[in-house]
Amino acid sequence: MKQKPSRHPPVLVGLHWLLALLILLALAMGTFVLKEMPNTSPDKIGALRGHMIVGLVIGGLMLVRLVVRMRTSLPQAAPTGNTLLDQLGKSSHAGLYLLIFVMVASGAATALLAGLPEIVFGGGAGPLQESFAIYAPRVVHGWIAKALMVLIGVHWVGVIFHQFGLKDRLLSRMWFGKR
Ligand code: HEM
Repeated sequence: MKQKPSRHPPVLVGLHWLLALLILLALAMGTFVLKEMPNTSPDKIGALRGHMIVGLVIGGLMLVRLVVRMRTSLPQAAPTGNTLLDQLGKSSHAGLYLLIFVMVASGAATALLAGLPEIVFGGGAGPLQESFAIYAPRVVHGWIAKALMVLIGVHWVGVIFHQFGLKDRLLSRMWFGKR
């Protein structure tokens, strides 16, 4: 049987860290800028433009990542010695993919329902509605954002447990080097 590589392939390593940055950026933009800014603000359209571009780039890169992941040989799952924790690791990774795709889809659906592509990118006529909360996907976008923050927290706790508790050098698997 062919031996499994000791690290993730460089393209997945690059995508992992780039996506981590972009996802934190989108969460911060949404939570601290968009949510706080009334739709009547003259800065709102620019802020929406930035957020929507970052969100759509995340969606595209996640698709690339998923395809590469399915076509490449990956390292063996890092064992913790506890079946329940191993299962939690697996499910949390699947959960991250799912929640990120739901974020992109619900954001895009909100934007379409509110006519934002035309207003934000096409120089179309405003003004924006008073609030986007009248659209169900906007409400979903807000709830999934909170769930995603919790799951990112779980992911970090898992990494810290592996790296410093089990001392299995988990982080080196998600970095560049000889496979
Ligand atoms: C992983 C990708 C994304 C993340 C992490 C993200 C994150 C967020 C967050 C945290 C909020 C504030 C939610 C709240 O606390 O209630 C928000 C709002 C919003 N996002 Fe996203 N988003 C993403 C993708 C997108 C995409 C692809 C679009 C559209 C193409 C989009 C459009 C919007 C809109 C229209 C709002 C509402 C702003 C408002 O109510 O003023 N998002 N997003």
